[in-house]
Amino acid sequence: MTHAKTPRLFLSPPHMGGDEERRVAEAFLSNYIAPLGPQVDAFEAAFAEATGLPHCLALSSGTAAMHLALHCLGVGPGDVVVASSLTFIASVSPAHFLGAEVVFIDSDRATWNMDPDLLREALTALTSEGRRVKAVIPTDLYGQCADYQRLLDICAPFGVPVIADAAEAMGARYGHGDDASHAGAFPGLKASIFSFNGNKIITTSGGGMLASEDGELIRHARKLSQQAREPAPHYEHVEIGYNYRLSNILAAIGLGQLDVLEARVAKRRQIFRWYEQALAGLPGLTFMPEAAYGKSNRWLTVIEIDAQSFGATPEAVRQALEDENIESRPVWKPMHQQPVFADCRLFSGKDGGAVAEEQFARGLCLPSGTAMAQDDVVRVAGIIKSFRHKGRA
Ligand SMILES: Cc1ncc(COP(=O)(O)O)c(C=O)c1O
Repeated sequence: MTHAKTPRLFLSPPHMGGDEERRVAEAFLSNYIAPLGPQVDAFEAAFAEATGLPHCLALSSGTAAMHLALHCLGVGPGDVVVASSLTFIASVSPAHFLGAEVVFIDSDRATWNMDPDLLREALTALTSEGRRVKAVIPTDLYGQCADYQRLLDICAPFGVPVIADAAEAMGARYGHGDDASHAGAFPGLKASIFSFNGNKIITTSGGGMLASEDGELIRHARKLSQQAREPAPHYEHVEIGYNYRLSNILAAIGLGQLDVLEARVAKRRQIFRWYEQALAGLPGLTFMPEAAYGKSNRWLTVIEIDAQSFGATPEAVRQALEDENIESRPVWKPMHQQPVFADCRLFSGKDGGAVAEEQFARGLCLPSGTAMAQDDVVRVAGIIKSFRHKGRA
């Protein structure tokens, strides 16, 4: 039954910090109501400051950022791009736009990210088959960095660059203390992409960033993002580009959001701990682990439900929450199980089957928006607990 009067509790709605409207008004006053302008420049500079990535390009989406990154690496027909299977399709659709073949890697059970041992197996096999692997794309799943150091060590002998899909990982860290890097900012990564879609930890309503240590790559991507116009007074083109720049108005929102990034990470992590307390000790219910090598932003609190010992399936729990006007969502359906990628290869098998398939079958993302109060978390947890009792009765 839907409770029409109870406001819907969304999975991860936008949460403005308070200064965004003033910054948008400033952008209006400047009359840069365009895909370029002082707010875009300031947003790129503030993003570089926040992440430590020296060269940053603000774009219309994370998908556009990945498309430009792969284009700049020269990915094309006949090439192979290797990616995590447990991810959102935008990690890999750009490889498809460019005519490359995508090969998927199963998840590591301990981190839910790309399994480094399986990556080594894949690169060894593909190289021995004479395939040209142009890029490896690990996803920082649900705001937890992939194990960059191990992945880079594996890629180095094969000479394959790594593009981090840090779309979900703003504010996450790889490493601890003074040695920690911001997600996507670890030395040796070729480039990283970020998303400011409305559901992300900070948002511009829609937007993305391509960032790198490599100034030349970003210079080329910047040119491509503006229709690849050559430096001439007239319109001169020697290559084909795209129209991918971020609106100056949206960059103003991003500036306000960057101010509250660290507070948002702290709150997401607090929400995770509230769920942990409220759901402690339930048989068959576990949480996505946090890797020892870093600090997740806990973009979404994700639980795994073992239907047998819990007494209900994740889908039944999702439906019970939906009946109370609460949004939850299954974990990403692995790319190798998507009909559109039915012909693609998967490297898996370490545990006798695809780990990502199990995570999809058992995982559920709970409401994690940073405007939530502890009472909201307790309410969601209460429904999950009471549903379990009902399910067992
Ligand atoms: C893992 C991942 N990669 C890429 C994207 C694409 O970002 P965007 O929606 O900004 O194009 C998203 C989010 O939407 C994502 O979650």
